[in-house]
Amino acid sequence: MFKRDFPYFANSKTVYLDNAATTQKPKNVIDSQIEYYEKYCANTHRSSYGDANMATRKYENSRELLKEFINAKKSEEIIFTKGVTEAINMIADTFTRDYKSVIISSLEHHSNIVPWHMQGRDLTNGLKVVGCDNNLNFDFEEYENILKKNPNSFVSVTHISNAFGKIHDIKRVCDLAHKYESVVLVDGAQSLAHAKIDVQKLDVDFLALSSHKTFGPTGVGALYVKEKHLENMKPYQTGGATINEVDFNSSTLLNSPYKFEAGTQNIAGVIGFGEALKYINRIGYENIKTVEKDVYNYLNSELEKIPNIIFYNDTKDCIGSRSFNIKNISHDDIGILLDKMGIAVRVGHHCAQPIMKKLGIKGTIRVSTSFYNDYEDVNRLIKALKKALDMLS
Ligand SMILES: Cc1ncc(COP(=O)(O)O)c(C=O)c1O
Repeated sequence: MFKRDFPYFANSKTVYLDNAATTQKPKNVIDSQIEYYEKYCANTHRSSYGDANMATRKYENSRELLKEFINAKKSEEIIFTKGVTEAINMIADTFTRDYKSVIISSLEHHSNIVPWHMQGRDLTNGLKVVGCDNNLNFDFEEYENILKKNPNSFVSVTHISNAFGKIHDIKRVCDLAHKYESVVLVDGAQSLAHAKIDVQKLDVDFLALSSHKTFGPTGVGALYVKEKHLENMKPYQTGGATINEVDFNSSTLLNSPYKFEAGTQNIAGVIGFGEALKYINRIGYENIKTVEKDVYNYLNSELEKIPNIIFYNDTKDCIGSRSFNIKNISHDDIGILLDKMGIAVRVGHHCAQPIMKKLGIKGTIRVSTSFYNDYEDVNRLIKALKKALDMLS
């Protein structure tokens, strides 16, 4: 029923089940970007003629929308970025040097692993990994032990695993971190497509968000920074639009968020991100959750009937992604055949090689749903999967 809001579904016969990679975009998001380029294309925060003012107003309106959306205290706490990857790199590069240890979970995406390695963190040099149980649940006992031994750490964990759909209890992660004088960055790449985040209630210090996984345009995201940390954060890049005063000897910078948004930003993208948030507000998380969980459960019950299927976790505290393999059949071969039958899923390591290695596998077949997927999508997937398995057995 929601598919009618998304032009992609009117133009494509593909059964789109790769929402953890990127979501489809509703018409208001697409229209808002076309409108910017066709009707008031101008740079922001510089000139003071009509179109430039309009572009600045709409850009800043997206910041206000996001501030309200995640219940940040102030708009200064919202910094637009290229996406989650850039947000984590920004923090890894500019903020965390004084923290001896960085703590991550074992379900992290490469974007929350590689930036730490590039800052010289590895298992012998301050990167600690919290393990998980047989159902991929975060091990809170191990986490607290690590915090106890390493107070004043920087914790960086994903909210929802892109590879397995497991939801981490962020409130508990934050409360424990704060008990041991540590701070928390949440990788929220997969969050807003599925669940509301209230940064004040959860008491997160940093939250990295991705527009393109939240029904918005690609190349845009945001970093929420709790006000008290802003003064300790250095800009990652500087240049045009970040400065207060420049002479040949020195420069002074503006306050947040402007000092963190160097150069011309993805103006159309930011405006589109704001439209995506408006769209979610219109549908409402209660509706999203209800329909999504129903289809996710149906998907799982149908997959469970497939002979020789191997799962790596149960579906408790999970949403979005469901990963599996079929005994003795290559996930790559299944992916190729599903594609030929018009089914879009992702096969491989899903940018989460460390957990794949821990599970002793190279990758999985990942079906990732969104609230616009329906029973018919699941039925077509299952039919195609059975056909593929017949061909490969
Ligand atoms: C959990 C997670 N973190 C980070 C990223 C990277 O996000 P972005 O594409 O916004 O840089 C992804 C994208 O797949 C992801 O799923």
